Amino acid sequence: MSGWAGLLSITARVTLLLLLGSLLFSCSSLSQRVPEFALTKIEERDIKDASGKELVTEDDADPEDLEVFHPTDQWQTLRAGQAVPAGSHVRLNLQTGEREAKLPDTENGQSGTREERRRGRRRLGKVDVDANSFTSEELKKALAKMKASEKAERKAREEEVRKKFRPIEQLKEEFEKLNMKIETDYEIMVKLISKFNSSASTLDEKVAALYDLEYYVHQVDNAKDFLSLGGLQLVIEGLNNSEASLKEHAAFVLGAALSSNPKVQIEAIEGGALQKLLVILATEQPLAVRKKALFALSSMLRHFPYAQQQFLKLGGLQVLRSLFRHQGMELLRVRVVTLLYDLIMEKMLLEDSQHGEQMEEKMQQYQQVRLVPAVVEQGWCALVPNLLAMPEHDTREKVLKLVGVLVAFCREHYRGDSALGTALSLLRSEYEELAAQEQREGDKDGYFRELLGSVNTIIQELR
Ligand SMILES: *[C@@H]1O[C@H](CO)[C@@H](O)[C@H](O)[C@H]1NC(C)=O
Ligand SMILES: *[C@@H]1O[C@H](CO)[C@@H](O)[C@H](O)[C@H]1NC(C)=O
Repeated sequence: MSGWAGLLSITARVTLLLLLGSLLFSCSSLSQRVPEFALTKIEERDIKDASGKELVTEDDADPEDLEVFHPTDQWQTLRAGQAVPAGSHVRLNLQTGEREAKLPDTENGQSGTREERRRGRRRLGKVDVDANSFTSEELKKALAKMKASEKAERKAREEEVRKKFRPIEQLKEEFEKLNMKIETDYEIMVKLISKFNSSASTLDEKVAALYDLEYYVHQVDNAKDFLSLGGLQLVIEGLNNSEASLKEHAAFVLGAALSSNPKVQIEAIEGGALQKLLVILATEQPLAVRKKALFALSSMLRHFPYAQQQFLKLGGLQVLRSLFRHQGMELLRVRVVTLLYDLIMEKMLLEDSQHGEQMEEKMQQYQQVRLVPAVVEQGWCALVPNLLAMPEHDTREKVLKLVGVLVAFCREHYRGDSALGTALSLLRSEYEELAAQEQREGDKDGYFRELLGSVNTIIQELR
Protein backbone atom coordinates (compact mmCIF):
# COMPACT_ATOMS: atom_id res chain seq x y z
CA MET A 1 0.00 0.00 0.00
CA SER A 2 1.26 3.41 -0.81
CA GLY A 3 2.77 5.22 2.12
CA TRP A 4 0.72 8.12 1.01
CA ALA A 5 -2.50 6.70 2.20
CA GLY A 6 -1.25 7.11 5.67
CA LEU A 7 0.85 10.19 5.29
CA LEU A 8 -2.00 12.53 4.79
CA SER A 9 -5.08 13.01 6.79
CA ILE A 10 -8.27 13.22 4.80
CA THR A 11 -8.47 16.96 5.19
CA ALA A 12 -4.91 17.39 4.14
CA ARG A 13 -5.58 15.24 1.14
CA VAL A 14 -8.54 17.26 0.06
CA THR A 15 -6.63 20.47 0.54
CA LEU A 16 -3.70 19.11 -1.37
CA LEU A 17 -6.02 18.12 -4.09
CA LEU A 18 -7.49 21.56 -4.29
CA LEU A 19 -4.05 23.02 -4.46
CA LEU A 20 -2.97 20.59 -7.13
CA GLY A 21 -6.11 21.44 -8.96
CA SER A 22 -5.48 25.12 -8.80
CA LEU A 23 -1.83 24.67 -9.64
CA LEU A 24 -2.83 22.80 -12.71
CA PHE A 25 -5.15 25.54 -13.71
CA SER A 26 -2.91 28.41 -12.88
CA CYS A 27 -0.12 26.89 -14.89
CA SER A 28 -2.31 26.21 -17.80
CA SER A 29 -4.69 29.11 -18.23
CA LEU A 30 -7.79 27.29 -19.20
CA SER A 31 -10.35 29.56 -17.82
CA GLN A 32 -10.22 32.23 -15.28
CA ARG A 33 -13.19 30.80 -13.50
CA VAL A 34 -11.70 27.44 -13.06
CA PRO A 35 -9.64 28.13 -9.97
CA GLU A 36 -12.68 29.41 -8.18
CA PHE A 37 -14.54 26.36 -9.16
CA ALA A 38 -11.76 24.11 -8.05
CA LEU A 39 -11.49 25.80 -4.74
CA THR A 40 -15.11 25.97 -3.93
CA LYS A 41 -16.77 22.96 -5.40
CA ILE A 42 -14.49 19.98 -5.06
CA GLU A 43 -15.48 17.59 -2.41
CA GLU A 44 -13.73 14.41 -1.66
CA ARG A 45 -16.27 12.18 -3.25
CA ASP A 46 -16.65 14.42 -6.27
CA ILE A 47 -13.03 14.53 -7.19
CA LYS A 48 -13.58 12.44 -10.23
CA ASP A 49 -15.97 14.86 -11.76
CA ALA A 50 -13.99 17.88 -10.84
CA SER A 51 -10.94 17.13 -12.91
CA GLY A 52 -12.26 17.96 -16.31
CA LYS A 53 -15.90 17.56 -17.10
CA GLU A 54 -16.95 20.77 -15.49
CA LEU A 55 -13.99 22.47 -17.07
CA VAL A 56 -15.06 22.12 -20.64
CA THR A 57 -18.61 22.99 -19.94
CA GLU A 58 -17.68 26.28 -18.40
CA ASP A 59 -19.42 28.89 -20.49
CA ASP A 60 -16.43 31.00 -21.29
CA ALA A 61 -13.98 28.20 -21.86
CA ASP A 62 -13.88 27.74 -25.57
CA PRO A 63 -13.53 24.03 -26.26
CA GLU A 64 -11.69 24.81 -29.49
CA ASP A 65 -8.84 26.32 -27.55
CA LEU A 66 -8.32 23.28 -25.46
CA GLU A 67 -5.93 20.59 -26.34
CA VAL A 68 -7.42 17.49 -24.85
CA PHE A 69 -5.16 15.02 -23.14
CA HIS A 70 -5.93 11.39 -23.97
CA PRO A 71 -5.21 9.28 -20.94
CA THR A 72 -4.18 5.65 -21.30
CA ASP A 73 -3.59 3.12 -18.55
CA GLN A 74 0.01 4.36 -18.27
CA TRP A 75 1.09 7.54 -16.57
CA GLN A 76 1.82 10.20 -19.20
CA THR A 77 3.19 13.64 -18.73
CA LEU A 78 0.71 16.46 -19.04
CA ARG A 79 1.68 19.57 -20.89
CA ALA A 80 0.56 22.99 -19.90
CA GLY A 81 -2.75 23.91 -21.40
CA GLN A 82 -3.99 20.39 -21.83
CA ALA A 83 -7.44 19.59 -20.59
CA VAL A 84 -7.85 16.39 -18.65
CA PRO A 85 -11.00 14.35 -19.20
CA ALA A 86 -13.22 13.69 -16.23
CA GLY A 87 -12.31 10.67 -14.19
CA SER A 88 -8.59 10.66 -15.00
CA HIS A 89 -6.07 10.25 -12.27
CA VAL A 90 -3.69 13.14 -12.00
CA ARG A 91 -0.54 13.15 -9.96
CA LEU A 92 2.42 15.33 -9.34
CA ASN A 93 5.67 13.49 -9.92
CA LEU A 94 8.00 14.86 -7.29
CA GLN A 95 11.11 13.62 -9.05
CA THR A 96 10.51 15.50 -12.23
CA GLY A 97 8.07 18.15 -11.13
CA GLU A 98 5.79 17.12 -13.99
CA ARG A 99 2.13 16.51 -13.75
CA GLU A 100 1.06 13.13 -15.03
CA ALA A 101 -2.29 11.59 -15.78
CA LYS A 102 -3.78 8.24 -16.63
CA LEU A 103 -7.03 6.40 -16.75
CA PRO A 104 -8.32 5.28 -13.40
CA ASP A 105 -7.66 1.66 -12.56
CA THR A 106 -10.63 -0.41 -13.50
CA GLU A 107 -11.93 -2.70 -10.86
CA ASN A 108 -11.99 -6.19 -12.28
CA GLY A 109 -15.50 -7.38 -12.66
CA GLN A 110 -17.54 -6.38 -9.68
CA SER A 111 -17.74 -2.74 -8.96
CA GLY A 112 -16.14 -3.41 -5.63
CA THR A 113 -17.19 -4.64 -2.27
CA ARG A 114 -17.79 -2.23 0.51
CA GLU A 115 -14.31 -3.13 1.67
CA GLU A 116 -12.66 -2.36 -1.65
CA ARG A 117 -14.50 0.85 -2.00
CA ARG A 118 -13.43 1.81 1.45
CA ARG A 119 -9.80 1.12 0.65
CA GLY A 120 -10.17 3.03 -2.59
CA ARG A 121 -11.47 6.07 -0.82
CA ARG A 122 -8.56 6.04 1.55
CA ARG A 123 -6.09 6.07 -1.27
CA LEU A 124 -5.87 9.79 -1.78
CA GLY A 125 -9.21 10.00 -3.50
CA LYS A 126 -8.64 10.10 -7.22
CA VAL A 127 -5.40 11.96 -7.12
CA ASP A 128 -2.15 10.20 -6.47
CA VAL A 129 1.02 11.95 -5.71
CA ASP A 130 4.10 9.98 -6.48
CA ALA A 131 6.39 10.26 -3.54
CA ASN A 132 8.57 7.56 -2.19
CA SER A 133 10.03 10.10 0.10
CA PHE A 134 7.83 13.05 0.50
CA THR A 135 9.36 15.89 2.44
CA SER A 136 8.63 19.56 2.36
CA GLU A 137 12.04 20.06 0.83
CA GLU A 138 11.20 17.81 -2.07
CA LEU A 139 7.84 19.30 -2.55
CA LYS A 140 9.42 22.70 -2.77
CA LYS A 141 11.96 21.40 -5.26
CA ALA A 142 9.28 19.80 -7.32
CA LEU A 143 7.39 23.03 -7.38
CA ALA A 144 10.51 24.88 -8.38
CA LYS A 145 11.11 22.46 -11.22
CA MET A 146 7.58 22.72 -12.33
CA LYS A 147 7.83 26.41 -12.28
CA ALA A 148 11.01 26.34 -14.36
CA SER A 149 9.81 23.92 -16.98
CA GLU A 150 6.65 25.75 -17.56
CA LYS A 151 8.06 29.18 -17.53
CA ALA A 152 8.83 29.19 -21.22
CA GLU A 153 5.45 27.97 -22.24
CA ARG A 154 3.75 30.40 -20.04
CA LYS A 155 5.75 33.38 -21.08
CA ALA A 156 3.61 34.51 -23.96
CA ARG A 157 0.41 34.39 -22.03
CA GLU A 158 1.84 35.41 -18.75
CA GLU A 159 1.00 39.06 -18.90
CA GLU A 160 -2.72 38.70 -19.31
CA VAL A 161 -2.92 35.63 -17.18
CA ARG A 162 -1.02 37.00 -14.23
CA LYS A 163 -3.80 39.11 -12.91
CA LYS A 164 -6.34 36.36 -13.17
CA PHE A 165 -4.50 33.57 -11.46
CA ARG A 166 -2.94 33.06 -8.14
CA PRO A 167 0.80 33.46 -8.42
CA ILE A 168 2.91 30.41 -7.93
CA GLU A 169 4.62 32.01 -4.95
CA GLN A 170 1.34 32.12 -3.19
CA LEU A 171 0.63 28.52 -4.03
CA LYS A 172 4.01 27.58 -2.73
CA GLU A 173 3.24 29.25 0.52
CA GLU A 174 0.03 27.36 0.75
CA PHE A 175 1.79 24.14 0.06
CA GLU A 176 4.16 24.88 2.87
CA LYS A 177 1.34 25.64 5.22
CA LEU A 178 -0.39 22.51 4.11
CA ASN A 179 2.72 20.53 4.76
CA MET A 180 2.45 21.36 8.42
CA LYS A 181 -0.87 19.63 8.49
CA ILE A 182 0.32 16.38 7.01
CA GLU A 183 -0.07 13.73 9.61
CA THR A 184 1.82 10.52 9.94
CA ASP A 185 0.11 7.21 10.50
CA TYR A 186 1.44 7.36 14.01
CA GLU A 187 -0.24 10.68 14.75
CA ILE A 188 -3.48 9.51 13.25
CA MET A 189 -3.41 6.38 15.37
CA VAL A 190 -2.76 8.41 18.50
CA LYS A 191 -5.89 10.40 17.77
CA LEU A 192 -8.00 7.38 16.94
CA ILE A 193 -6.89 5.51 20.05
CA SER A 194 -7.69 8.46 22.22
CA LYS A 195 -11.06 8.84 20.51
CA PHE A 196 -11.79 5.22 21.23
CA ASN A 197 -10.59 5.48 24.82
CA SER A 198 -12.33 8.74 25.66
CA SER A 199 -15.35 8.53 27.92
CA ALA A 200 -16.64 11.60 26.09
CA SER A 201 -16.96 9.65 22.83
CA THR A 202 -20.31 8.20 21.84
CA LEU A 203 -20.65 4.56 20.91
CA ASP A 204 -20.78 5.50 17.24
CA GLU A 205 -17.62 7.54 17.54
CA LYS A 206 -15.84 4.67 19.21
CA VAL A 207 -16.94 2.23 16.55
CA ALA A 208 -15.85 4.69 13.85
CA ALA A 209 -12.44 5.03 15.51
CA LEU A 210 -12.04 1.25 15.51
CA TYR A 211 -13.18 1.07 11.93
CA ASP A 212 -10.47 3.53 10.95
CA LEU A 213 -7.85 1.89 13.11
CA GLU A 214 -8.40 -1.41 11.39
CA TYR A 215 -7.10 0.19 8.22
CA TYR A 216 -3.86 1.35 9.80
CA VAL A 217 -2.90 -1.71 11.81
CA HIS A 218 -2.62 -3.92 8.73
CA GLN A 219 0.85 -2.55 8.25
CA VAL A 220 3.34 -4.38 10.39
CA ASP A 221 5.06 -1.24 11.63
CA ASN A 222 1.80 0.48 12.43
CA ALA A 223 0.69 -2.57 14.36
CA LYS A 224 3.83 -2.33 16.46
CA ASP A 225 3.15 1.32 17.18
CA PHE A 226 -0.43 0.44 17.97
CA LEU A 227 0.92 -1.94 20.55
CA SER A 228 3.35 0.54 22.11
CA LEU A 229 0.62 3.17 22.25
CA GLY A 230 -1.49 0.88 24.39
CA GLY A 231 -4.08 0.42 21.66
CA LEU A 232 -3.78 -3.33 21.58
CA GLN A 233 -4.69 -3.68 25.24
CA LEU A 234 -7.65 -1.36 24.72
CA VAL A 235 -9.11 -3.46 21.92
CA ILE A 236 -8.55 -6.62 23.94
CA GLU A 237 -10.57 -5.03 26.71
CA GLY A 238 -13.14 -4.10 24.09
CA LEU A 239 -13.71 -7.79 23.38
CA ASN A 240 -15.88 -8.18 26.45
CA ASN A 241 -17.63 -4.86 26.15
CA SER A 242 -21.36 -5.21 26.54
CA GLU A 243 -22.02 -3.47 23.22
CA ALA A 244 -22.06 -5.97 20.37
CA SER A 245 -20.87 -3.48 17.75
CA LEU A 246 -17.89 -2.56 19.88
CA LYS A 247 -16.98 -6.18 20.44
CA GLU A 248 -17.27 -6.83 16.74
CA HIS A 249 -15.01 -3.97 15.70
CA ALA A 250 -12.54 -4.59 18.50
CA ALA A 251 -12.14 -8.14 17.18
CA PHE A 252 -11.80 -6.77 13.66
CA VAL A 253 -8.93 -4.47 14.65
CA LEU A 254 -7.31 -7.21 16.68
CA GLY A 255 -7.46 -9.67 13.79
CA ALA A 256 -5.91 -7.13 11.43
CA ALA A 257 -3.13 -6.27 13.86
CA LEU A 258 -2.37 -9.93 14.51
CA SER A 259 -2.08 -10.98 10.89
CA SER A 260 1.46 -12.18 10.27
CA ASN A 261 2.77 -10.14 13.15
CA PRO A 262 4.55 -12.31 15.74
CA LYS A 263 5.19 -9.43 18.10
CA VAL A 264 1.51 -8.57 18.29
CA GLN A 265 0.61 -12.25 18.54
CA ILE A 266 2.76 -12.63 21.64
CA GLU A 267 1.47 -9.47 23.30
CA ALA A 268 -2.12 -10.34 22.51
CA ILE A 269 -1.95 -13.80 24.01
CA GLU A 270 -0.26 -12.39 27.10
CA GLY A 271 -2.97 -9.76 27.27
CA GLY A 272 -5.64 -12.44 27.49
CA ALA A 273 -7.07 -12.06 23.99
CA LEU A 274 -7.33 -15.79 23.36
CA GLN A 275 -9.65 -16.44 26.29
CA LYS A 276 -11.86 -13.51 25.38
CA LEU A 277 -12.18 -14.59 21.77
CA LEU A 278 -13.15 -18.08 22.86
CA VAL A 279 -15.76 -16.64 25.22
CA ILE A 280 -17.31 -14.73 22.33
CA LEU A 281 -17.39 -17.84 20.17
CA ALA A 282 -18.80 -19.99 22.94
CA THR A 283 -21.64 -17.68 23.93
CA GLU A 284 -24.78 -16.42 22.33
CA GLN A 285 -23.65 -13.56 20.08
CA PRO A 286 -24.76 -11.97 16.84
CA LEU A 287 -23.26 -13.67 13.81
CA ALA A 288 -21.27 -10.55 12.87
CA VAL A 289 -19.53 -10.59 16.24
CA ARG A 290 -18.69 -14.26 16.03
CA LYS A 291 -17.45 -13.85 12.50
CA LYS A 292 -14.93 -11.21 13.49
CA ALA A 293 -13.96 -13.16 16.59
CA LEU A 294 -13.23 -16.19 14.43
CA PHE A 295 -11.20 -13.99 12.11
CA ALA A 296 -9.15 -12.71 15.04
CA LEU A 297 -8.75 -16.21 16.43
CA SER A 298 -7.45 -17.45 13.08
CA SER A 299 -4.94 -14.60 12.89
CA MET A 300 -3.86 -15.39 16.41
CA LEU A 301 -3.28 -19.09 15.76
CA ARG A 302 -1.68 -19.12 12.34
CA HIS A 303 2.06 -19.68 12.49
CA PHE A 304 2.06 -19.32 16.24
CA PRO A 305 2.44 -22.79 17.79
CA TYR A 306 2.38 -21.48 21.34
CA ALA A 307 -1.08 -20.01 20.79
CA GLN A 308 -2.21 -23.24 19.14
CA GLN A 309 -1.11 -25.14 22.19
CA GLN A 310 -2.96 -22.78 24.53
CA PHE A 311 -5.99 -22.97 22.29
CA LEU A 312 -6.11 -26.74 22.68
CA LYS A 313 -5.57 -26.49 26.44
CA LEU A 314 -8.39 -24.00 26.81
CA GLY A 315 -10.78 -26.28 24.99
CA GLY A 316 -10.80 -24.18 21.84
CA LEU A 317 -11.55 -27.13 19.64
CA GLN A 318 -14.72 -27.87 21.61
CA VAL A 319 -15.72 -24.24 21.27
CA LEU A 320 -15.37 -24.45 17.50
CA ARG A 321 -17.26 -27.70 17.54
CA SER A 322 -20.17 -26.02 19.26
CA LEU A 323 -20.59 -23.84 16.17
CA PHE A 324 -21.65 -27.00 14.35
CA ARG A 325 -24.59 -27.50 16.65
CA HIS A 326 -26.40 -24.26 16.03
CA GLN A 327 -28.44 -23.18 13.08
CA GLY A 328 -27.29 -20.26 10.97
CA MET A 329 -23.59 -20.82 11.53
CA GLU A 330 -22.85 -22.43 8.14
CA LEU A 331 -20.52 -19.68 7.05
CA LEU A 332 -18.55 -20.01 10.26
CA ARG A 333 -18.32 -23.77 9.84
CA VAL A 334 -16.66 -23.38 6.48
CA ARG A 335 -14.18 -20.98 8.01
CA VAL A 336 -13.51 -23.37 10.85
CA VAL A 337 -12.82 -26.12 8.32
CA THR A 338 -10.39 -23.85 6.50
CA LEU A 339 -8.66 -22.91 9.72
CA LEU A 340 -8.22 -26.52 10.79
CA TYR A 341 -6.92 -27.47 7.38
CA ASP A 342 -4.42 -24.61 7.43
CA LEU A 343 -3.22 -25.43 10.93
CA ILE A 344 -2.77 -29.12 10.17
CA MET A 345 -0.92 -28.33 6.93
CA GLU A 346 1.23 -25.74 8.59
CA LYS A 347 2.67 -28.37 10.89
CA MET A 348 2.94 -31.05 8.20
CA LEU A 349 4.77 -28.77 5.79
CA LEU A 350 7.22 -27.85 8.47
CA GLU A 351 7.84 -31.52 9.26
CA ASP A 352 8.47 -32.20 5.58
CA SER A 353 10.79 -29.32 5.05
CA GLN A 354 14.48 -29.47 5.70
CA HIS A 355 15.19 -27.57 8.82
CA GLY A 356 18.23 -25.86 10.17
CA GLU A 357 18.92 -24.99 13.74
CA GLN A 358 16.45 -22.18 13.81
CA MET A 359 13.71 -24.51 12.70
CA GLU A 360 14.54 -27.01 15.43
CA GLU A 361 13.16 -24.67 18.03
CA LYS A 362 10.04 -24.15 16.01
CA MET A 363 9.68 -27.86 15.41
CA GLN A 364 9.81 -28.47 19.11
CA GLN A 365 7.05 -25.98 19.65
CA TYR A 366 4.92 -27.58 16.97
CA GLN A 367 5.51 -31.03 18.41
CA GLN A 368 3.60 -29.92 21.49
CA VAL A 369 0.63 -28.96 19.36
CA ARG A 370 -1.27 -32.20 19.26
CA LEU A 371 -3.96 -30.95 16.98
CA VAL A 372 -4.68 -33.99 14.82
CA PRO A 373 -5.10 -36.40 17.75
CA ALA A 374 -7.45 -33.90 19.40
CA VAL A 375 -9.41 -33.51 16.18
CA VAL A 376 -9.83 -37.28 15.88
CA GLU A 377 -10.70 -37.77 19.56
CA GLN A 378 -13.32 -35.06 19.52
CA GLY A 379 -15.33 -36.49 16.69
CA TRP A 380 -14.37 -34.22 13.82
CA CYS A 381 -14.02 -37.27 11.56
CA ALA A 382 -17.79 -37.51 11.56
CA LEU A 383 -18.47 -33.81 11.64
CA VAL A 384 -16.51 -32.56 8.65
CA PRO A 385 -17.91 -34.72 5.81
CA ASN A 386 -21.45 -33.52 6.60
CA LEU A 387 -20.48 -30.23 5.02
CA LEU A 388 -20.03 -31.94 1.64
CA ALA A 389 -23.78 -31.62 1.31
CA MET A 390 -23.43 -27.87 0.93
CA PRO A 391 -24.23 -26.69 -2.59
CA GLU A 392 -21.35 -24.24 -3.15
CA HIS A 393 -18.34 -25.61 -4.99
CA ASP A 394 -16.09 -23.32 -3.04
CA THR A 395 -17.32 -24.75 0.26
CA ARG A 396 -16.97 -28.30 -0.99
CA GLU A 397 -13.47 -27.54 -2.18
CA LYS A 398 -12.47 -26.54 1.33
CA VAL A 399 -14.20 -29.49 2.93
CA LEU A 400 -12.63 -31.91 0.43
CA LYS A 401 -9.23 -30.53 1.29
CA LEU A 402 -9.71 -31.18 4.99
CA VAL A 403 -11.26 -34.61 4.41
CA GLY A 404 -8.29 -35.38 2.16
CA VAL A 405 -5.90 -34.61 5.01
CA LEU A 406 -8.00 -36.34 7.66
CA VAL A 407 -8.49 -39.49 5.64
CA ALA A 408 -5.19 -40.89 6.89
CA PHE A 409 -6.34 -40.47 10.50
CA CYS A 410 -10.06 -41.16 10.14
CA ARG A 411 -9.81 -44.05 7.72
CA GLU A 412 -11.69 -46.61 9.80
CA HIS A 413 -14.46 -44.19 10.56
CA TYR A 414 -14.76 -43.09 6.94
CA ARG A 415 -14.85 -46.67 5.64
CA GLY A 416 -17.84 -47.38 7.81
CA ASP A 417 -19.61 -44.13 6.95
CA SER A 418 -22.07 -45.01 4.21
CA ALA A 419 -23.36 -41.45 3.98
CA LEU A 420 -19.86 -40.32 3.12
CA GLY A 421 -19.60 -43.06 0.49
CA THR A 422 -22.82 -41.89 -1.11
CA ALA A 423 -21.83 -38.24 -0.96
CA LEU A 424 -18.51 -38.98 -2.64
CA SER A 425 -20.10 -40.95 -5.49
CA LEU A 426 -22.59 -38.17 -6.09
CA LEU A 427 -19.84 -35.59 -6.14
CA ARG A 428 -17.83 -37.75 -8.49
CA SER A 429 -20.56 -37.95 -11.10
CA GLU A 430 -21.37 -34.27 -10.75
CA TYR A 431 -17.76 -33.21 -11.19
CA GLU A 432 -17.11 -35.71 -13.99
CA GLU A 433 -19.82 -34.00 -15.94
CA LEU A 434 -18.69 -30.49 -15.09
CA ALA A 435 -15.06 -31.32 -15.81
CA ALA A 436 -15.99 -32.77 -19.20
CA GLN A 437 -17.92 -29.65 -20.05
CA GLU A 438 -15.01 -27.54 -18.91
CA GLN A 439 -12.71 -29.52 -21.18
CA ARG A 440 -15.04 -29.13 -24.13
CA GLU A 441 -14.78 -25.43 -23.56
CA GLY A 442 -11.03 -25.68 -23.88
CA ASP A 443 -10.08 -25.51 -20.24
CA LYS A 444 -7.75 -28.43 -19.66
CA ASP A 445 -6.68 -27.73 -16.09
CA GLY A 446 -9.98 -26.43 -14.90
CA TYR A 447 -11.42 -25.97 -11.48
CA PHE A 448 -13.88 -28.87 -11.70
CA ARG A 449 -11.19 -31.21 -12.90
CA GLU A 450 -9.27 -30.33 -9.79
CA LEU A 451 -12.29 -30.96 -7.57
CA LEU A 452 -12.86 -34.25 -9.33
CA GLY A 453 -9.24 -35.15 -8.61
CA SER A 454 -9.75 -34.46 -4.88
CA VAL A 455 -12.87 -36.62 -4.79
CA ASN A 456 -11.14 -39.47 -6.62
CA THR A 457 -8.12 -39.35 -4.36
CA ILE A 458 -10.31 -39.70 -1.28
CA ILE A 459 -12.30 -42.55 -2.83
CA GLN A 460 -9.07 -44.37 -3.66
CA GLU A 461 -7.68 -43.88 -0.18
CA LEU A 462 -10.80 -45.49 1.23
CA ARG A 463 -10.64 -48.62 -0.91
C1 LIG B 1 -7.36 5.45 28.41
O1 LIG B 1 -7.99 6.31 29.33
C2 LIG B 1 -7.58 6.08 30.66
C3 LIG B 1 -8.44 6.96 31.57
O2 LIG B 1 -8.58 8.22 31.03
C4 LIG B 1 -6.10 6.39 30.81
O3 LIG B 1 -5.67 6.18 32.13
C5 LIG B 1 -5.34 5.48 29.87
O4 LIG B 1 -3.96 5.77 29.91
C6 LIG B 1 -5.84 5.61 28.47
N1 LIG B 1 -5.21 4.58 27.64
C7 LIG B 1 -4.65 4.83 26.46
C8 LIG B 1 -4.01 3.70 25.79
O5 LIG B 1 -4.65 5.93 25.94
C1 LIG C 1 -14.10 -7.60 30.87
O1 LIG C 1 -13.16 -8.45 31.48
C2 LIG C 1 -12.35 -7.86 32.49
C3 LIG C 1 -11.40 -8.89 33.02
O2 LIG C 1 -10.92 -9.72 32.02
C4 LIG C 1 -13.22 -7.30 33.61
O3 LIG C 1 -12.40 -6.63 34.52
C5 LIG C 1 -14.23 -6.33 33.00
O4 LIG C 1 -15.11 -5.91 34.01
C6 LIG C 1 -15.03 -7.01 31.91
N1 LIG C 1 -15.93 -6.03 31.30
C7 LIG C 1 -17.22 -6.27 31.06
C8 LIG C 1 -17.99 -5.16 30.43
O5 LIG C 1 -17.74 -7.31 31.34
